[in-house]
Amino acid sequence: MSELHVVILAAGKGTRMKSAVSKVVHPLAGRPIIEHVVRTTVGLDVASTTVVVGHGADDVRAALAAYPAVRFAVQSPQLGTGHALLQAEAELAGRRGTVLLLYGDVPLLTAGTLRDLIAHHRTHDAALTVLTATLGDPYGYGRIVRDSDGRITRIVEERDASADERAIREINSGIYALDLDGLFDDLRHLATDNAQGEYYLTDLVSAHHRRGRRIETLCIDDATELRGINTRVDLAELGRVLHDRTRRMQMLHGVTLEDPASTFIDADVTIGEDTIIAPGVTISGRSVIGTRCRIHAGTRITDSTIGDDVTLLDHTLVLDSTVGDGVHIGPFAHLRPGSQVGPRAHVGNFVELKKTTLGPGSKANHLAYLGDATIGANVNVGAGVITCNYDGTTKHRTTIEDGVFVGSDSQLVAPVTIGAGAYVGAGSTITHDVPAGALAVARSHQTNKDGWAERRAADRQKDKAR
Ligand code: UD1
Ligand code: CA
Repeated sequence: MSELHVVILAAGKGTRMKSAVSKVVHPLAGRPIIEHVVRTTVGLDVASTTVVVGHGADDVRAALAAYPAVRFAVQSPQLGTGHALLQAEAELAGRRGTVLLLYGDVPLLTAGTLRDLIAHHRTHDAALTVLTATLGDPYGYGRIVRDSDGRITRIVEERDASADERAIREINSGIYALDLDGLFDDLRHLATDNAQGEYYLTDLVSAHHRRGRRIETLCIDDATELRGINTRVDLAELGRVLHDRTRRMQMLHGVTLEDPASTFIDADVTIGEDTIIAPGVTISGRSVIGTRCRIHAGTRITDSTIGDDVTLLDHTLVLDSTVGDGVHIGPFAHLRPGSQVGPRAHVGNFVELKKTTLGPGSKANHLAYLGDATIGANVNVGAGVITCNYDGTTKHRTTIEDGVFVGSDSQLVAPVTIGAGAYVGAGSTITHDVPAGALAVARSHQTNKDGWAERRAADRQKDKAR
């Protein structure tokens, strides 16, 4: 089997995005646009991947930093698609086999389609195989021109086409399989005698035809796969296609989506069977959700791991955190990055955690801020408890050991440790460590003034009479 070399063209400016950053790095269903293209090729047994960059080259490199095997070739200035592919020559010097040419802004192609294209190319021993489609409205695309035997002879761009050629509905996707042998020499011989004065890669077709080399086409049924992104309208529409695919995949894998259209799940998210997701939920990044969870309306989970049998009540926000099995969270709870909620713990209404570990079976049910805290097992955090973790300059940690009871409306001024099994009286401001098993009360004593209300009323009466 000959080697497969992927080349992705991404040097174009993408003017119509009206953006300060390169078109292909805009986020689409949770990944930079170009990462979708790279990911599609991952299962194809690829010998090398080269991305041709130009405009916004640094953005593109950064967006693909997680793929160290990807090589970059710089095209400057951008003189057309033929010139763009030529820039990959140094990366492919001395290599043989097949080039799979893709575009960084065409992200819906499936691995299945690419496999079909490569298989077709190889079984026909072609010099060039073009992926085509037949469109109702072919406007803007290059058209596939065929001879009386139905063999492809050339590709003509919209701007260079005659009226007859414009009536052709079979279009060039711009995706090809190409034989590496002699490819770069052929590219060097391209001319620029066309409406845009560019080196058209499509002119390889007529060059091969003249020299009697084998050119194949493969016509794809679902032209949606060929859609490219030029504007933010395309970005939204293609995002919907990708989200639809992901939602379908999740449902077929045993996840109930009560309202698929309002549920947004990124491509890299994993969800266990029998988890039920209510309307308006977003699960993004590299989140992993367990089995039998109930995720209620308006919740967002990003880059987090959620165990089995977890209930997330309405409008819970979980960011970069870990949640154990059987946990209850929400409604209106906020797990900020670096939080860990142990098995069977409860985090209730309007509770905020930040870089905090809440141990197994512990509860913080109402209106608490727990930041930079390590909280053990079976701790009860009362309503309105606050860790005062910031002194205006530095953050300090609070440690609450197993079995502690923190009374409502207490402030724990960090750094401070509450020893195992200790009690903190409600309304305390704790500034010193509490030994294990102790009761700490840190509030002023209550005084009751008998008959005070009656005396006050009498005083007021006197004032009025004056
Ligand atoms: C190209 C094809 C056309 C096809 C269409 C499909 C040619 C001459 N035309 O046209 O037949 O129907 O794609 O979408 O190939 N790029 C570079 N460097 C360049 C020029 C382009 O890297 O100098 C990249 C762009 O970033 C983009 C891709 O190549 O990802 C396609 O370029 P684009 O200008 O959109 O090509 P079209 O004119 O649409
Ligand atoms: Ca285009």
